[in-house]
Amino acid sequence: MRNMRNLLLATLAPLAVGFAQAPAARIKIDTDRAIGEVHPLVFGNFAEHLGRCIYGGLYEEGSRLSDADGFRKDVMEAIKGLGVTMLRWPGGNFVSGYNWKDGIGPRQLRPVRPEGAWGALEPNTFGTDEFLKYAERAGVEPYVCINAGLGTVEEARQWVEYTNEARDTYWAQQRRKNGRDKPYGVKYWGLGNEIDGPWQLGHKNVEDYTKFALEAAKAMRRVDGSIKLIASGSSNFRPGWDWIGWNRTVLEKLRNDIDYISLHTYIGNRSNNFEEFLAVSADIDHRIEVVAGLIKAAQSGLPNPRPITIAYDEWNVWYRARGSSEFATGSTRLEEIYNYEDALAMGMFFNSFIRHANIVKMANLAQIVNVIAPIFTNKEGLFLQPIYFPIAEYAKQRGNTALDLWVSSPTYRAGQRGTLPYLDTSATYDPKSRTVFLNVLNRSEKMDIATRIDNVEGRLSGDAEAWEMNHADLKAVHTFGDDRKVRPATRKVSSGGQGFSYTFPKHSLTILKLKLES
Ligand code: AHR
Repeated sequence: MRNMRNLLLATLAPLAVGFAQAPAARIKIDTDRAIGEVHPLVFGNFAEHLGRCIYGGLYEEGSRLSDADGFRKDVMEAIKGLGVTMLRWPGGNFVSGYNWKDGIGPRQLRPVRPEGAWGALEPNTFGTDEFLKYAERAGVEPYVCINAGLGTVEEARQWVEYTNEARDTYWAQQRRKNGRDKPYGVKYWGLGNEIDGPWQLGHKNVEDYTKFALEAAKAMRRVDGSIKLIASGSSNFRPGWDWIGWNRTVLEKLRNDIDYISLHTYIGNRSNNFEEFLAVSADIDHRIEVVAGLIKAAQSGLPNPRPITIAYDEWNVWYRARGSSEFATGSTRLEEIYNYEDALAMGMFFNSFIRHANIVKMANLAQIVNVIAPIFTNKEGLFLQPIYFPIAEYAKQRGNTALDLWVSSPTYRAGQRGTLPYLDTSATYDPKSRTVFLNVLNRSEKMDIATRIDNVEGRLSGDAEAWEMNHADLKAVHTFGDDRKVRPATRKVSSGGQGFSYTFPKHSLTILKLKLES
């Protein structure tokens, strides 16, 4: 009898060590289950002529913190630390009233104009040459959005000629006169911004937009056939608005001419409900999957359809700094101060992009500095907002292969969004270093979740690390001189063999970096 009992204890012992707490969740990793490449451009960003994003953010002439070109050196360094791969410019709503010719040539001759999207005065001291020089210096891919609102097809065509023409044409000569001989070779061009929105200058119905976009695409490609074009998808998800219909028509009419269709999403915790706030992943997944279906439908039956993917070219948390009366005073600034729970929302967005890595091939956080941004400046320096850290960490997964995980997790009721797993997950694999990155957002406000993690293909070497964002106060924020409290911590994890158990703390974001044996 005693022998039987000992045998039983011996059999259970390893399990008991593995599961100090009964696992409530299970995740299976299989490196053979590839979704697609996590395209490096998914870690793009966006700089608009709005508030202090350009002036007082990227660019501040005469500041002791700026270089000879007026570029803020501290901001440039923070951008490099963020892992930014691409910068979209000059808007946003701003571009729909922008004439790019105002922003070239001698500074003293550039006109100051009333700006029609946000109500400020635009000095035009930062224009095309300044932006493209900035992008080169920061080592990011430039993405220029044309004015499809009040602008014309011919202005768009000339813009491409100015930046990309190598021959001795009029606009290439203007570029040379302005100090740049070699073409910039701008590859990514947006065919307008949020043209479906009634708030947009030069807002169009879908027939007028697609007619304009088709002609712009033709004219721009006659200058440079190698450019990639992003169509303005719907950004208007308000009830009663047919966002799907807009996208369907855009894809049907432009399917032979575009490379991407854009999606925009801003979220907020207006009802101060943490778990509901982080349930928006359901909407993000849904929007991506609907657009992916529309792309397939538009291409159905075509012999060799032009590949079209999604550019999620504006996304972020934005709900506090939304003044309705600011336009009149030209004081619109969108200076969101981000807290710890907003940092967790970054993980939620990236998890969704990674889960759809086969179709989301570009994404741009809106925006880069001061305006709904991870970097915040004043004249003396800057501080990093809590959202900065997850963005910088996820960016290390660029170029990896996204993996399709099997996940079983405790669930919760998320209002109209139905039942969702508490664990919001994604994973990527880097075959060179044989590292699996397991990204886990525990969106339970109250419950730590003990999880069994099994690896199906190959063995874990035991050499693993956990990167974790966690803070007791969901509303904790940073400010000047105090930006160290909401920061990630790292620790070693014991994870050998086929699997291990790990507890994801309540309201936390964890990235487990697991090495496979070679
Ligand atoms: O990023 C702020 C604004 O949000 C952009 O100008 C516009 O495209 C969107 O509505």
